[in-house]
Amino acid sequence: MMAESRYETLARTLRRQIDTQVWLPGDRLPSLRDTCKQSGLSLMTVLQAYQLLESQGVIVSRPQSGYYVAAATHRPVRHSPDERLHAAEQVDVNDAIFDILKAGQDPAVVPLGSAFPDPTLFPQPRLARSLASAVRRMSPHSAIANLPPGNEELRRSIAQRYAQNGIEVAPDEIVITSGAMESLGLSLQVVTEPGDWVAIESPAFYGVLQAIERRKLKAVAIPTDVRYGMDPDALEKALEIYPIKACWLMSNFQNPLGCSLPPENKARLVGILQAHSVALIEDDVYSELYFGSERTVPLKASDYRREILHCSSFSKCLAPGFRVGWVAAGAYAERIQRLQLMSTLSASVPVQLALADYLQSAQQGGYDTHLRRLRRQLEQRQLAMRHAIIREFPPQVSVSQPAGGYFLWLDLGDNVDAARVYQRALAQGVSVAPGTMFSADERFRHCLRLNTSFEWGPHTARAVSILAALVAEEIKG
Ligand SMILES: Cc1ncc(COP(=O)(O)O)c(C=O)c1O
Repeated sequence: MMAESRYETLARTLRRQIDTQVWLPGDRLPSLRDTCKQSGLSLMTVLQAYQLLESQGVIVSRPQSGYYVAAATHRPVRHSPDERLHAAEQVDVNDAIFDILKAGQDPAVVPLGSAFPDPTLFPQPRLARSLASAVRRMSPHSAIANLPPGNEELRRSIAQRYAQNGIEVAPDEIVITSGAMESLGLSLQVVTEPGDWVAIESPAFYGVLQAIERRKLKAVAIPTDVRYGMDPDALEKALEIYPIKACWLMSNFQNPLGCSLPPENKARLVGILQAHSVALIEDDVYSELYFGSERTVPLKASDYRREILHCSSFSKCLAPGFRVGWVAAGAYAERIQRLQLMSTLSASVPVQLALADYLQSAQQGGYDTHLRRLRRQLEQRQLAMRHAIIREFPPQVSVSQPAGGYFLWLDLGDNVDAARVYQRALAQGVSVAPGTMFSADERFRHCLRLNTSFEWGPHTARAVSILAALVAEEIKG
């Protein structure tokens, strides 16, 4: 076989870059001169490579302007339904999570398995104005001024919201992070050493399982009820058996169950953990999404010792893509800052400034007006999907009834494999989150979590009908 010439090698490299969408249709390719400089090849060799691609119709030349990627070469990488079915066949926790997040990005799939709220629910134009204004006003020193614990005005606005909720948190106790995921990870790091035991919910948000795995911790899964949350008796028993260092739980609108702890259980859980000197990491990202007129009360409200690590973010209630969260870390604030300085350094400065601007200029009620509308829409959408599920799914299927958030938890019955439903639904353009994602074992294999935040209309109604038919088939065997 003849060796490939240099221009053919270059042409092949460029072709690969176009196929993998490094360069999109209409993009101008690097100039001949720049390519010579970068590759060390002669102008003649580079020109030959470009001409070869031009003769293949991959790129076009425009006089006086350069070479551009031709429109016809754009072949977006799409999974056919069969490919998806195959890709999802060996579902383990991580594969399923990755597939579901990916499927959520495919506009052709109805993303009922996604954890993200419907992106159209948020005040995008208003946030864009805050971002533009923040960037305009940003001083050259702001990168340094906003190092951990983070932007002062933003921390003060968050502290004011705690105060409005009757919770005393000083701005200095708050550390701004890249989403709640970072605040939860840092909190876990600050209160544990690898090999320690951590009490978690069962089922639990998959981020918990991943964080525990990453930090090489051992988990004790505490039974968590679909209405009342973590079982205090079971927690107490676990504390007698295992040397548990920390407990990670959600007091409001738990993911995936949607449950909230009743007030008496909140007090009891805090008491049990304090009595055993176990650190409490409270994941409270859905707290603003309550349906009734009553605000949610976090465990942090009874934290007289400043020991609870209360983690939250704007990802679910205001600005999903901004990746801004925080931890009200009490006595741990200083140590959290040090860990952050050693890992991600700080949350992105322009988005911190933008949220500070939004919360301050919206102080006259703009944020609360947005939240009220968001809650109303989420409640209506949940109601509509829940009714459709009750109407269309086989009667053996039970469905949760959360008082906030945007998840429904379905128990399909012991003989139904939700991982199969997940695979078959994805092949028909609907994603769901199978129960296997929320546990390190197969305990919830017969359960599903559905995201109810999307507008209720023909599209979502059809997705629910598809699921109902699939589940009915699976039940029949
Ligand atoms: C329970 C729970 N905690 C934490 C997070 C992560 O929040 P963030 O997007 O702010 O990192 C999520 C996101 O899905 C979640 O559902």
